[in-house]
Amino acid sequence: MKRRTPYLIGSQDRRTFLRVTAITAAFFTVPGAFAEELVRTPRQTEGPFYPDKLPLDTDNDLIIVNDGTTPAVGEITWLNGRILNERGEPIRNALVEIWQCDATGVYLHSRTGGEVSKRDKNFQCFGRFLTGSTGEYVFRTIKPVPYPGRTPHIHMAIKIKGRKELITQCYIKGHPQNEKDGIWKGIRDEKARASVTIPFDPLKGSRIGELAAHFDVVMGLTPEA
Ligand SMILES: [Fe+2]
Repeated sequence: MKRRTPYLIGSQDRRTFLRVTAITAAFFTVPGAFAEELVRTPRQTEGPFYPDKLPLDTDNDLIIVNDGTTPAVGEITWLNGRILNERGEPIRNALVEIWQCDATGVYLHSRTGGEVSKRDKNFQCFGRFLTGSTGEYVFRTIKPVPYPGRTPHIHMAIKIKGRKELITQCYIKGHPQNEKDGIWKGIRDEKARASVTIPFDPLKGSRIGELAAHFDVVMGLTPEA
């Protein structure tokens, strides 16, 4: 059963949730993650390809569209993390949106680059997740691929109470094209750049070669409780 909205949890999602909890637990126990060391996630351009018409399916599983049975082409990746304030406290009710191109470099946008006729119709290109009290989010998506002029990246927007509070992008750690990417290089602060450049590692125990990527977002605001 596919999740219809980010707010409902079906049986499939419960399994997903348990799994993600296991993944994130490993990160929470990393010693030395003191609040004062938190680096604010840098703001980055929204770019021109935020969907100009949202897909009908906007859940957090980007590799299956609606009730489709064919998954998207690409390296399946569990992208998860927490939305935090600058004191390291989780932010609940943050609407996390991601968008990215498909495996051929085509976005879900009327003016996308690439060969539109080859767009992977099984890839959702966009997804949403509303955080709970732990501030955690999770998406099942594909490892981003390069397209002309850009190193691989996933766009992310964080909305709180309907307002877009932060727009950023995350990148693949160690990807050779990062060094040539104007937007990546445009993040002058090294710590800030490192904070959005994350490993995409094999997911432990996955028999189908899935990847896991962990991206914590630190907002430069302290919302009311
Ligand atoms: Fe992009």
